[in-house]
Amino acid sequence: MKSIAIIYGSSTEHTKNAAEKIAARLTDYNPSLSDIYNGDEEPFLSNEVLILGVSTWGVQDLQDDWNDFFPKLEKLDLSGKTVALFGMGDASIYPSSFVDAMGILYEIVSRKGATIIGQVSPDGYDFEYSRALVDGRFVGLPLDDDTEPELTDERIAAWVEILKPHL
Ligand SMILES: Cc1cc2nc3c(=O)[nH]c(=O)nc-3n(C[C@H](O)[C@H](O)[C@H](O)COP(=O)(O)O)c2cc1C
Repeated sequence: MKSIAIIYGSSTEHTKNAAEKIAARLTDYNPSLSDIYNGDEEPFLSNEVLILGVSTWGVQDLQDDWNDFFPKLEKLDLSGKTVALFGMGDASIYPSSFVDAMGILYEIVSRKGATIIGQVSPDGYDFEYSRALVDGRFVGLPLDDDTEPELTDERIAAWVEILKPHL
């Protein structure tokens, strides 16, 4: 069993709530749970698996707390780390940039050498464009607590099962 850190950035607690739900489904694995707002690099260094959550607030940008952490992230060597991503967005009001920040985070952690797990089919999502869509698959789990909150729990449950063989 590998050591797991769940790390999220969240402005209005939607991503935070999702992170807590993911943690609750992984209690057997004893993951740590932390808010990137704290600026703490330690969970990145001391865990083999990183489950990273980010919400999208506009095109091109990471969520504010991830943005503040960016200089530290840039200095981390993530080679040998396994990374799973989840992204909170709103496909109804922002269909042309749905969960873009998850795509931005993917680009950074891939460049830093991480192995990405937990890609998700876009089937069942109604959007026009997403930077998080790579080779026809989402790079992680998109969630939309604004438009379809009733789907969040089942999406998380299915996704966690995809992750488990890697943990
Ligand atoms: C000003 C503003 C801009 C947003 N831009 C996007 C966007 O480009 N793409 C998207 O998918 N969601 C966008 N959203 C929706 C948020 O990502 C969504 O409300 C999310 O649940 C917030 O999560 P958080 O509370 O964890 O920060 C935006 C919301 C606001 C208020």
